[in-house]
Amino acid sequence: MTGEPPPRVFVTRRIPEEGLAPLREACGVDLWPEDLPPPRDELLRRVVEADGLLALLTDRVDEELLEAAGPRLRVVSNFAVGYDNIDVPACTRRGIAVGNTPGVLTETTADLAFALLMAAARRIAEGHDYVGAGRWRTWEPMLLLGADVHHATLGIVGFGRIGREMARRAAGFSMRVLYHDTARAAAQDEAALGATFRPLDELLAESDFVTLHVALTSQTRGLIDAAALARMKPTAIVVNTSRGPVLDQAALHAALRGGVIAGAALDVTDPEPIAPDDPLLGLPNCLIVPHIASASRVTRGRMAAMAAANLLAGLRGKPLPNPVNPEVPPRPAAA
Ligand code: DGY
Repeated sequence: MTGEPPPRVFVTRRIPEEGLAPLREACGVDLWPEDLPPPRDELLRRVVEADGLLALLTDRVDEELLEAAGPRLRVVSNFAVGYDNIDVPACTRRGIAVGNTPGVLTETTADLAFALLMAAARRIAEGHDYVGAGRWRTWEPMLLLGADVHHATLGIVGFGRIGREMARRAAGFSMRVLYHDTARAAAQDEAALGATFRPLDELLAESDFVTLHVALTSQTRGLIDAAALARMKPTAIVVNTSRGPVLDQAALHAALRGGVIAGAALDVTDPEPIAPDDPLLGLPNCLIVPHIASASRVTRGRMAAMAAANLLAGLRGKPLPNPVNPEVPPRPAAA
């Protein structure tokens, strides 16, 4: 990038300095300064000037956006490991490299998933609200009884990086670990993680806790629907830190109200944010946090650095360190 005007990038939100600093050194940075995402027409307008786009999971990168951007856009770098907000085949057809941020958020996400599991099992949010409301009168033998986590059975749906970290955490609580994925893990991985494969129906029926770690695809949308919930134990708790649409929310509401399952803990909803009048918010056995699984200071810094590294590599005509569509050849700036 010498002797030429620096490339221009549009960064759709303020991200940690670990990502902004290297971009500012090498590029003209157009940074959307608001807390909320750029409105669609603003996104479409600003991307016209961009050689690279640093997008968030709230930005839809689809045919319409790519059409608005035109041939100048060479790289889309997602500030997330999930990239269901991006039409990757459409990017590939146009020779646009797409990058994401795998690995750096694995353990932080698993930490939050396990925290949600424990919080739902032991009714932490209910207890906090109870004390805050001035209702704590004395020690009560029957107050806020929950479920044991230790020695319970954990069912992990999606046995990728984050799912496997859940298995590691479960070992510390002497849990029995079942997993389901489209392909079985290698025997040595199963042994090392103490995890046993089950068909999904069996996993749902046997687990005390079911935790979801699949990417959102046409196959996983609505994977946990009314029928799946009905297979679970009435004492079971479902945890979702993947993507909201993996779990059918209307079915979940019915299942929680009807005692089909005992509880849910969600980091993700459909839509996001969940509507303030969504009936799930009125259920004491449904704990919801605002998509914060990767939200530790260190991890968000690493995600920012990784997203910047992807963007800069693509703009320099180099392969992305973390490519989603590695088949797209590196593309130097148009003369
Ligand atoms: C991701 O990276 O896909 C998470 O949902 C946000 O960190």
